[in-house]
Formats: sequence, C-alpha cells, structure tokens
Amino acid sequence: MSQQTPPQSSVVDVSIPSVARMYDYYLGGKDNYAVDRAACDELSKVVPSTQVLALNNRRFLQRVVRWLAQEHGIRQFIDHGSGLPTQDNVHQVAQAVDPASRVVYIDNDPIVLAHGRALLEENANTAVIQADMRDTDGIFGSPEVKRLIDLDQPVAALFVSVLHCIPDSDDPGGLVARVAERLVPGSFLVVCQLVSEDPATRDFVTNFMAESTHGQWGRVRQAHELAAFLDGLEIQEPGLVEVSTWKPDAELGPRQLTKEWIEFGGVARKA
Ligand SMILES: C[S@@+](CC[C@H](N)C(=O)[O-])C[C@H]1O[C@@H](n2cnc3c(N)ncnc32)[C@H](O)[C@@H]1O
Repeated sequence: MSQQTPPQSSVVDVSIPSVARMYDYYLGGKDNYAVDRAACDELSKVVPSTQVLALNNRRFLQRVVRWLAQEHGIRQFIDHGSGLPTQDNVHQVAQAVDPASRVVYIDNDPIVLAHGRALLEENANTAVIQADMRDTDGIFGSPEVKRLIDLDQPVAALFVSVLHCIPDSDDPGGLVARVAERLVPGSFLVVCQLVSEDPATRDFVTNFMAESTHGQWGRVRQAHELAAFLDGLEIQEPGLVEVSTWKPDAELGPRQLTKEWIEFGGVARKA
C-alpha cells in the first residue's frame, strides 16, 4: 500500500476511536469523544504509563524543534502525523525562534482539519493538509509544500510518535528513507515510536489498537527495529533513547513510573 493510499474522508466518525483523539485525551485536550476516552481508559488498565508517556512525547517534540531551530538554524518543518493542535505546536516553537519559520502539518484524521485548521494555520507560514503520510509523492507535490518548503534548503521531517501507526507491510523504514531522499544534505529526520521489550505488551497493545481503531494501526516494535529505520543517516547525540531523556531541559516532566512500554527515538542528520 505504500504507493496506493486510501481516499481521505472528511467525516469525523465518532463511533470508532481514533489515534489522534485518544492522544488528545491523554494530553488533556477537549477534541475527543466518549468512544476515545473509553478506549484510553481500557488501554491504561494494561499499560498504566500511557498518559505520562504521551505527555513526555509531546515535550520531546517541542525540545527537538527548538534545538533544530536554535542550534542548527532549521527554518522548515514537515510534520508527518501532526495530531490535533495543543499548546506549543511545532510552528509556535519554531516561530518563537524565527517568525519566518515555515511548517506544513500532515495528518490523515479529518478531525485535525476540522478542529485544527484555525490554530495550525495561524499565519501565512503554516499549512495543514489532510493526507496519508505514506503518500510521499502527493505530499511533496502538494501546493502547500510547494508554497512553503524550499527543497534547496535544509528541512526537518518529523515522524514523532507515528511510525507505530504504519504496519510492516507498508515499510515504515522505507517511508523515512523516501522522505530523506527528497531532502538536501544538512536536513534532519526526527523519529520516535512506541517500543516494548516485553512480547506480551507488544502483542496486547498492537492487537488492542488495531481492533479499536479498525486497522488504523501498525505495530509496537522493539528498540533495535527503530535504529534500522535510520540506516545511512547520522544519528545525533545522545542517540536513540527513551524520549524524556533526550536533551532534557530544566522543566520537570512527569516521571514514567512503569516502563512496560516507552516512546523511543531521536534525531538523525542527512550527511
Ligand atoms: C500519537 S499522535 C502523534 C501526534 C504528534 N506527532 C505528536 O507527537 O505530538 C499520531 C498521529 O498520527 C496520525 N496518523 C496516523 N497514521 C497516519 C497516516 N497514515 N497518515 C497521516 N497521519 C497519520 C494520527 O491521526 C495522529 O494524529
């Protein structure tokens, strides 16, 4: 399916939990429905760390964007699987460093367009498109990417907490490589996903999420599998790690008391 993406629906189906709305619930947002909250509550019974993990993931995203903007002068971001707007979205963090920073948000969940457009398209330097992130040709050929992203300059392509939504049959590593190929040297790829070294956790969550979301899910993986997605790229210090330990700042984040699964990832540079 990597070359054939499903048609995008504009209808928000409130009878089936969605990953975007479940994540919104875990982050304390309001754009979720009873069905999403019930699925989260059920999931948390087996993997109680999930809310803390989601909060820490979001902080990781913000730290990475700030670091890329401040330390590496990155002014262009393509955010694959952006999720619903919350506090300190990618463009707000990047534009706090330089208001001229440009961001294209991509999500296939219609709720991101329906509820998110007003905030995610706050100014002329941001755009949100409803697309399947596997459709690299469509995304790079879109009017929004053509308008906002100069492919002769470095870009940061973000895949933050999204690759577990892509099944192996759709080759998540191939997706990262396809995007990297389009970017000039000096660009960055940010990748993290849910991993567990416990087979029972991996199987339970993978099956639970696949069933709950009617197939909008891939797989909880193992840490070593993620490293393979970044083959040929220069992994930046501190390497691939549990994301709350990636260049932590002074702000105290919530502690993940149980580690049955973690959000694991880091940043790679195209040499
Ligand atoms: C856990 S949220 C992560 C949001 C954000 N990247 C973050 O880390 O805060 C995963 C997001 O990926 C989106 N998503 C899942 N599969 C997708 C696909 N094939 N194409 C585009 N977006 C997808 C979901 O709709 C959801 O909004």
